[in-house]
Amino acid sequence: MSTTTVSTTVSQRKKTTTLTFRQKKERGEPLTMLTAYDYPTALALDQAGIDSILVGDSLAMVELGYENTLPVTMEEMLHHARAVARGAKSALLIGDLPFMSYQVSVEDAVRNAGRFIQQANMDAVKLEGGRERAEAVRAIVSAGIPVMGHLGLTPQSINQLGGFRPQGKSASAATRLLEDAQILEEAGAFSLVLESIPARLAEFISKRLSIPTIGIGAGAGCDGQVLVTHDLLGLFERFTPKFVKRYANLHETMNKAFADYIDDVETKKFPAVEHTVEMNDEEWSAFLKEAK
Ligand code: KIV
Repeated sequence: MSTTTVSTTVSQRKKTTTLTFRQKKERGEPLTMLTAYDYPTALALDQAGIDSILVGDSLAMVELGYENTLPVTMEEMLHHARAVARGAKSALLIGDLPFMSYQVSVEDAVRNAGRFIQQANMDAVKLEGGRERAEAVRAIVSAGIPVMGHLGLTPQSINQLGGFRPQGKSASAATRLLEDAQILEEAGAFSLVLESIPARLAEFISKRLSIPTIGIGAGAGCDGQVLVTHDLLGLFERFTPKFVKRYANLHETMNKAFADYIDDVETKKFPAVEHTVEMNDEEWSAFLKEAK
C-alpha cells in the first residue's frame, strides 16, 4: 500500500470506542494496541491504523530512564498523554493511572481518572489489580469513565511479586486470576490487559469473559495484543522480555545516524551549499561597504 493510500484510508477511519472493542471481540477480530508517549509516535500509530494507544506508565522506564514504573507521577503522565492526544485522532486513547494515583482512596482514583479525560483528552483509563480495585473501578465507571483492568504481572506491585515474573502458574494462582477477571468485568471494566500469564490460562479467561482481553506475554488466545512500542522498535536496550517480537532496531539506526552526523561536522561535509542561506552579490557588496 502506498503512503498516499495509507493517509487517505486513515482520514476516513472512524474513531475507535469501547463499543468497537466489544464488537471486535464478538466478531472474533483481533484488537491491536501499542504504547505511545509523544506526538510523532502517536501520529505514526494512528496513521498505521492501530485500534488503541496506551499512554503506559512504562513511560517511567523506556522514556524517563527509571529502573521500574513506580516513580512516574500523575503530572508526568498527563504531560505525555496530552502530546499523544494531539497526534492521534482515531485510536482509542487510554491513560495509565500511575502508582499511588488510585490506591490510597476511591476518591483519588476517580479524581485522577477524571484528570486524564478532562486535562489530557484521553478516552479511558487503565489501572492494575484485581478484587482489591473493584470498588475503584465501579466508582470510576459510575463517573462515566471507561476503565481497562490489568491482571497477571502488574509492574506496580513488583516489590510484592518479587520482580518481573510470570504469574498464575499454579492451580490456585490461576483460579484467583480467573476470579479477579470476573470481578473486574462485573465491576464494569470494558477490557482487561493480561500480562505474562500462561497462554492456556489467558485463553480460558478470554473465553469466559464477554469483555475483550488484551494480552502481553499471554499467548495468542487473547482477544487482542499489546506491546511496549520501544520494545517492538528496538529502542529500549536495557532488556527485552521473552514475549517481545522486534520489528526494527531503531537504537542501532539512531547510533549510526548520530555517528554519521558527528563525522560530517568534524570533516566539514555538513552543512553543504544546499543547507545554507544565500545572499545576492549586490546586497553583499553594499553590506561590505557599510561594515566597519
Ligand atoms: O505501562 C504499560 O506499558 C503497560 C503495558 C505493558 C500493558 O501497562
